[in-house]
Amino acid sequence: MERTFVMLKPGVLQRRIAGEVITRFERKGLRIIALKLLRIDKTTAETHYAEHRGKDFYEKLLEYTLSGPVIAMILEGEEAVSVVRRLAGPTNLGDSLPGTIRGDYAARTRLNIVHASDSPGSVEREIDLFFRPGEICAWEDGNQEWF
Ligand code: CMP
Repeated sequence: MERTFVMLKPGVLQRRIAGEVITRFERKGLRIIALKLLRIDKTTAETHYAEHRGKDFYEKLLEYTLSGPVIAMILEGEEAVSVVRRLAGPTNLGDSLPGTIRGDYAARTRLNIVHASDSPGSVEREIDLFFRPGEICAWEDGNQEWF
């Protein structure tokens, strides 16, 4: 089983769509093994988005990320990284099709409502940034193969 990291950006709580977005991941059969609502600080946001430092949208991206609480999650499932990236849809607004989270809920690339790790290396780094080991609660599906 693979793990991935997801962050629901401030617009999700502001628009009261947290339940709907989380449901997309659960319906697919992914397991939530960690989840918390938090307001991240500037250092965490800068570390998280370090690869975008210097890009023209960087300052606005930080401003948006810091504008309200986010929901951080760890999801587990087979090929979770690519499955979640496909559920989220492409970063660029013009590429995200209806049926994906970004395709259905985002009207601007910068406000694309969800962040999902793009590789196993990012997963490890992002989980370490947002969660302590004791906050992760792994569980199994028992004897039933629901998904
Ligand atoms: P996310 O998956 O959180 O990773 C980096 C974020 O930068 C991305 O989602 C968008 O919110 C933002 N972003 C990436 N490319 C652009 C762009 N061309 N214009 C504005 N914002 C962008």
